[in-house]
Amino acid sequence: MRRITLTQYLVEQQREKGIVSGELRLLIEVVARACKSISNAVSKGALTGILGNAGSDNVQGEAQKKLDVISNEVLLEANEWGGHLAAMASEEMEHPHQIPNRYPRGEFLLLMDPLDGSSNIDVNVSIGTIFSVLRCPEGVTPDEQAFLQPGSKQVAAGFAVYGPSTILVLTVGNGVAGFTLDREMGSWILTQPKIEIPADTSEFAINMSNRRNWGPAVTRYIDECLAGKTGPLGKDYNMRWVASMVADVYRILTRGGIFMYPQDAKHKEGRLRLMYEANPMSMIVEQAGGAATNGMQRILDVQPAKLHQRVGVILGSRNEVERVTGYHREMQKS
Ligand code: AHG
Ligand code: MN
Ligand code: MN
Repeated sequence: MRRITLTQYLVEQQREKGIVSGELRLLIEVVARACKSISNAVSKGALTGILGNAGSDNVQGEAQKKLDVISNEVLLEANEWGGHLAAMASEEMEHPHQIPNRYPRGEFLLLMDPLDGSSNIDVNVSIGTIFSVLRCPEGVTPDEQAFLQPGSKQVAAGFAVYGPSTILVLTVGNGVAGFTLDREMGSWILTQPKIEIPADTSEFAINMSNRRNWGPAVTRYIDECLAGKTGPLGKDYNMRWVASMVADVYRILTRGGIFMYPQDAKHKEGRLRLMYEANPMSMIVEQAGGAATNGMQRILDVQPAKLHQRVGVILGSRNEVERVTGYHREMQKS
């Protein structure tokens, strides 16, 4: 069987579809290389003392883990000098990181969640890296304002999962492909050429401990799921919650499902970050035939007002996401 590497896949996208420029290809390859390096660090765990807290907080006041900090540094260092980027922004940095003057600059903006699923690092459960690529508007300084573009403007999005195997999921706007890291060869091999999310599902993912804070639309939907076969949805539902968005979304890309971290009485603007969690995941999910909304609106249409903005997230199997979004709209009217 012919093994197709990430590079070959991107070159083919460039040649046949004309949608990946040489610059974008190199940028994605650099990000993928950084993910390889993070994967190596993750796999060594306690052996190299990388577990535990860093002793600092990020801009959202969340305690940083050592691996949050290490992953951010790996991604910054790998991408700084490549010449493809105008600037980078990250969950772990308050302001965008400018490319130092000594390096060439390019036309793209990179946004990232260097380490997603921080609460799972120390317990050896799957974690990952999420990234999003935007074009820097022409003639503009790549400050925070330049990043504030809706997710529909993304030119590429992807995420890595550091699990039993290391996986890279990628979209350049032409469907979704999955690659598995061959550690011995050091290559990303195309293992899922065309990922598609089934339109229907009977598996939901939500942090049930937030139940008392939910709004009526989410409560109604989850109650209906829990009612099972004899309830209004007429089937039994299963529940999964890994608490690493990368792992929950990867499961949905593999076998369908609905993932929700909605706005609620405690998380008034939602819990997840729009620009480096919700937007890249929404582009991937839509490209795989699924849907992603904040309850009222398509996530990719949300105009960001700030870099670290949060948003409610409902994504996955199309029919189920439409059902929950419909419940939100009905409640809004009444
Ligand atoms: P991060 O580790 O980058 O802060 O993101 C964690 C996110 C997401 O991966 C996951 O779906 C969610 O937080 C888990 O939230 P709970 O701890 O409320 O389950
Ligand atoms: Mn995250
Ligand atoms: Mn993170």
